Amino acid sequence: MIIAVDGPAASGKGTVSRKIADLYGFSYLDTGLLYRAVARDVAAAGASLEAESDALKAAQSLDFSSLDDDSLRITGVGEAASIVARYPSVRATLLDLQLQFSRKPPGAVLDGRDIGTVVCPNADAKLYVTADPEIRAERRFLELSNLGESVTREGVLEMILQRDARDTERADSPMRPAADAMLLDTTKLDIMQSFDAAVELIKRKIGLPGT
Ligand code: CDP
Repeated sequence: MIIAVDGPAASGKGTVSRKIADLYGFSYLDTGLLYRAVARDVAAAGASLEAESDALKAAQSLDFSSLDDDSLRITGVGEAASIVARYPSVRATLLDLQLQFSRKPPGAVLDGRDIGTVVCPNADAKLYVTADPEIRAERRFLELSNLGESVTREGVLEMILQRDARDTERADSPMRPAADAMLLDTTKLDIMQSFDAAVELIKRKIGLPGT
Protein backbone atom coordinates (compact mmCIF):
# COMPACT_ATOMS: atom_id res chain seq x y z
CA MET A 1 0.00 0.00 0.00
CA ILE A 2 1.45 3.38 -0.99
CA ILE A 3 0.24 6.87 -0.07
CA ALA A 4 1.80 9.71 -2.09
CA VAL A 5 1.76 13.25 -0.72
CA ASP A 6 3.05 16.18 -2.78
CA GLY A 7 3.02 19.93 -2.46
CA PRO A 8 5.11 23.07 -2.08
CA ALA A 9 7.32 24.16 0.82
CA ALA A 10 5.59 24.65 4.18
CA SER A 11 2.21 23.49 2.88
CA GLY A 12 1.91 21.12 5.83
CA LYS A 13 2.57 17.96 3.80
CA GLY A 14 5.32 16.68 6.11
CA THR A 15 3.28 16.92 9.30
CA VAL A 16 0.22 15.40 7.66
CA SER A 17 2.28 12.58 6.10
CA ARG A 18 3.98 11.63 9.35
CA LYS A 19 0.65 11.48 11.17
CA ILE A 20 -0.96 9.41 8.41
CA ALA A 21 1.94 6.95 8.52
CA ASP A 22 1.48 6.63 12.31
CA LEU A 23 -2.28 6.07 11.91
CA TYR A 24 -1.87 3.30 9.34
CA GLY A 25 1.32 1.83 10.84
CA PHE A 26 3.22 2.59 7.62
CA SER A 27 6.83 3.67 7.07
CA TYR A 28 7.34 7.34 6.25
CA LEU A 29 9.91 8.98 3.96
CA ASP A 30 10.37 12.73 3.59
CA THR A 31 11.95 12.59 0.12
CA GLY A 32 13.02 16.24 0.38
CA LEU A 33 15.62 15.04 2.88
CA LEU A 34 17.31 13.02 0.12
CA TYR A 35 17.77 16.15 -2.01
CA ARG A 36 18.81 18.14 1.06
CA ALA A 37 21.40 15.50 1.99
CA VAL A 38 22.84 15.51 -1.55
CA ALA A 39 23.20 19.31 -1.33
CA ARG A 40 24.82 19.00 2.11
CA ASP A 41 27.29 16.38 0.84
CA VAL A 42 28.20 18.45 -2.25
CA ALA A 43 29.02 21.40 0.02
CA ALA A 44 30.94 19.18 2.47
CA ALA A 45 33.09 17.89 -0.41
CA GLY A 46 33.88 21.49 -1.36
CA ALA A 47 32.25 20.82 -4.76
CA SER A 48 29.97 23.10 -6.78
CA LEU A 49 26.18 22.92 -6.75
CA GLU A 50 26.29 24.11 -10.33
CA ALA A 51 28.09 20.94 -11.54
CA GLU A 52 25.71 18.05 -12.22
CA SER A 53 28.59 15.53 -12.07
CA ASP A 54 29.48 16.58 -8.51
CA ALA A 55 25.87 16.33 -7.39
CA LEU A 56 25.55 12.92 -9.04
CA LYS A 57 28.60 11.64 -7.14
CA ALA A 58 27.01 12.79 -3.88
CA ALA A 59 23.70 11.12 -4.81
CA GLN A 60 25.43 7.83 -5.66
CA SER A 61 27.20 7.68 -2.32
CA LEU A 62 24.26 8.91 -0.24
CA ASP A 63 24.02 7.22 3.13
CA PHE A 64 20.38 6.71 4.22
CA SER A 65 21.45 6.73 7.87
CA SER A 66 22.73 10.31 7.46
CA LEU A 67 19.21 11.69 6.91
CA ASP A 68 18.56 12.10 10.61
CA ASP A 69 20.54 15.34 10.73
CA ASP A 70 19.13 18.61 12.09
CA SER A 71 21.46 20.63 9.89
CA LEU A 72 19.41 19.46 6.88
CA ARG A 73 16.56 21.69 8.07
CA ILE A 74 18.27 25.04 7.75
CA THR A 75 17.18 27.47 5.04
CA GLY A 76 20.29 27.41 2.89
CA VAL A 77 20.12 23.62 2.56
CA GLY A 78 16.53 23.75 1.28
CA GLU A 79 17.53 26.30 -1.34
CA ALA A 80 20.60 24.25 -2.35
CA ALA A 81 18.40 21.12 -2.51
CA SER A 82 16.17 22.72 -5.13
CA ILE A 83 19.29 23.40 -7.24
CA VAL A 84 20.57 19.79 -7.22
CA ALA A 85 16.96 18.59 -7.68
CA ARG A 86 17.01 20.02 -11.23
CA TYR A 87 19.57 17.44 -12.41
CA PRO A 88 18.04 14.40 -14.19
CA SER A 89 20.94 12.08 -13.20
CA VAL A 90 20.49 13.00 -9.52
CA ARG A 91 16.74 12.43 -9.75
CA ALA A 92 17.23 9.05 -11.46
CA THR A 93 19.64 7.92 -8.74
CA LEU A 94 17.33 9.00 -5.93
CA LEU A 95 14.36 7.44 -7.71
CA ASP A 96 15.75 3.95 -7.07
CA LEU A 97 16.08 4.63 -3.34
CA GLN A 98 12.53 5.97 -3.20
CA LEU A 99 11.12 2.98 -5.10
CA GLN A 100 12.82 0.53 -2.74
CA PHE A 101 11.38 2.43 0.22
CA SER A 102 7.87 2.52 -1.27
CA ARG A 103 7.73 -1.30 -1.31
CA LYS A 104 8.12 -1.62 2.46
CA PRO A 105 5.35 -3.78 3.94
CA PRO A 106 2.68 -3.19 5.11
CA GLY A 107 2.79 0.21 3.41
CA ALA A 108 4.62 3.48 2.96
CA VAL A 109 3.85 7.18 2.92
CA LEU A 110 6.23 9.27 0.80
CA ASP A 111 6.08 13.04 0.60
CA GLY A 112 7.75 15.31 -1.93
CA ARG A 113 7.12 17.11 -5.20
CA ASP A 114 6.81 14.29 -7.76
CA ILE A 115 5.68 11.25 -5.78
CA GLY A 116 2.21 10.97 -7.35
CA THR A 117 3.42 11.88 -10.84
CA VAL A 118 6.81 10.15 -11.24
CA VAL A 119 7.98 8.09 -8.26
CA CYS A 120 4.74 6.22 -7.47
CA PRO A 121 2.23 6.91 -10.26
CA ASN A 122 0.32 3.80 -9.12
CA ALA A 123 0.02 4.90 -5.49
CA ASP A 124 -3.20 3.76 -3.78
CA ALA A 125 -3.99 7.32 -2.65
CA LYS A 126 -2.49 10.64 -3.71
CA LEU A 127 -2.78 13.94 -1.90
CA TYR A 128 -1.63 17.34 -3.15
CA VAL A 129 -1.33 19.68 -0.19
CA THR A 130 -1.23 23.44 -0.79
CA ALA A 131 -1.68 26.71 1.07
CA ASP A 132 -1.43 30.38 0.09
CA PRO A 133 2.20 31.55 -0.15
CA GLU A 134 1.72 34.19 2.59
CA ILE A 135 0.51 31.54 5.04
CA ARG A 136 3.31 29.16 4.10
CA ALA A 137 5.83 31.97 4.57
CA GLU A 138 4.41 32.75 8.02
CA ARG A 139 4.68 29.07 9.06
CA ARG A 140 8.25 28.79 7.76
CA PHE A 141 9.16 32.11 9.40
CA LEU A 142 8.01 30.80 12.81
CA GLU A 143 9.75 27.44 12.26
CA LEU A 144 13.08 29.06 11.32
CA SER A 145 12.84 31.65 14.10
CA ASN A 146 12.34 28.79 16.57
CA LEU A 147 15.46 27.12 15.19
CA GLY A 148 17.32 30.34 16.01
CA GLU A 149 17.71 31.57 12.42
CA SER A 150 17.59 35.30 11.95
CA VAL A 151 15.03 35.78 9.18
CA THR A 152 12.38 38.32 8.21
CA ARG A 153 8.84 37.59 7.06
CA GLU A 154 9.49 39.37 3.76
CA GLY A 155 12.72 37.43 3.20
CA VAL A 156 11.04 34.09 3.85
CA LEU A 157 8.14 34.92 1.49
CA GLU A 158 10.62 35.83 -1.22
CA MET A 159 12.46 32.51 -0.72
CA ILE A 160 9.23 30.52 -0.83
CA LEU A 161 8.16 32.20 -4.09
CA GLN A 162 11.59 31.61 -5.66
CA ARG A 163 11.59 27.96 -4.63
CA ASP A 164 8.02 27.44 -5.93
CA ALA A 165 9.16 28.88 -9.26
CA ARG A 166 12.30 26.70 -9.42
CA ASP A 167 10.33 23.56 -8.52
CA THR A 168 7.43 24.15 -10.94
CA GLU A 169 9.51 25.41 -13.86
CA ARG A 170 12.22 22.72 -14.00
CA ALA A 171 12.12 20.40 -17.00
CA ASP A 172 12.51 17.08 -15.15
CA SER A 173 9.69 16.04 -12.80
CA PRO A 174 8.31 19.50 -12.06
CA MET A 175 6.10 19.98 -9.01
CA ARG A 176 2.46 19.52 -10.01
CA PRO A 177 -0.59 17.59 -8.83
CA ALA A 178 -1.13 14.19 -10.45
CA ALA A 179 -4.33 14.04 -12.51
CA ASP A 180 -5.84 11.72 -9.89
CA ALA A 181 -4.54 13.58 -6.79
CA MET A 182 -6.97 14.73 -4.09
CA LEU A 183 -6.39 18.42 -3.36
CA LEU A 184 -6.08 19.63 0.21
CA ASP A 185 -5.77 23.38 0.85
CA THR A 186 -4.52 23.98 4.40
CA THR A 187 -4.58 27.82 4.24
CA LYS A 188 -7.32 28.04 6.88
CA LEU A 189 -6.55 24.81 8.72
CA ASP A 190 -4.36 24.11 11.75
CA ILE A 191 -2.36 20.87 12.08
CA MET A 192 -5.19 18.72 13.50
CA GLN A 193 -7.74 20.08 11.02
CA SER A 194 -5.33 19.38 8.14
CA PHE A 195 -4.74 15.85 9.40
CA ASP A 196 -8.48 15.18 9.85
CA ALA A 197 -9.19 16.46 6.35
CA ALA A 198 -6.40 14.30 4.91
CA VAL A 199 -7.69 11.19 6.71
CA GLU A 200 -11.22 11.83 5.38
CA LEU A 201 -9.92 12.01 1.80
CA ILE A 202 -7.76 8.90 2.18
CA LYS A 203 -10.53 6.94 3.93
CA ARG A 204 -12.81 7.60 1.00
CA LYS A 205 -10.21 6.12 -1.30
CA ILE A 206 -8.71 3.19 0.62
CA GLY A 207 -10.63 2.85 3.88
CA LEU A 208 -9.25 2.75 7.41
CA PRO A 209 -6.54 0.38 8.67
CA GLY A 210 -8.01 -3.08 9.16
CA THR A 211 -11.23 -2.31 7.25
O1 CDP B 1 10.48 21.11 3.62
P1 CDP B 1 10.31 21.83 2.32
O2 CDP B 1 8.98 21.59 1.73
O3 CDP B 1 10.74 23.25 2.37
O4 CDP B 1 11.37 21.24 1.31
P2 CDP B 1 11.74 19.73 1.07
O5 CDP B 1 10.51 18.90 0.91
O6 CDP B 1 12.75 19.30 2.07
O7 CDP B 1 12.44 19.79 -0.38
C1 CDP B 1 13.59 20.57 -0.65
C2 CDP B 1 13.72 20.67 -2.16
O8 CDP B 1 14.03 19.37 -2.70
C3 CDP B 1 12.49 21.12 -2.91
O9 CDP B 1 12.37 22.53 -3.03
C4 CDP B 1 12.64 20.45 -4.27
O10 CDP B 1 13.42 21.23 -5.14
C5 CDP B 1 13.40 19.19 -3.98
N1 CDP B 1 12.55 17.99 -3.98
C6 CDP B 1 12.24 17.43 -5.20
O11 CDP B 1 12.63 17.93 -6.24
N2 CDP B 1 11.50 16.28 -5.26
C7 CDP B 1 11.04 15.70 -4.15
N3 CDP B 1 10.35 14.57 -4.26
C8 CDP B 1 11.31 16.27 -2.89
C9 CDP B 1 12.05 17.44 -2.83
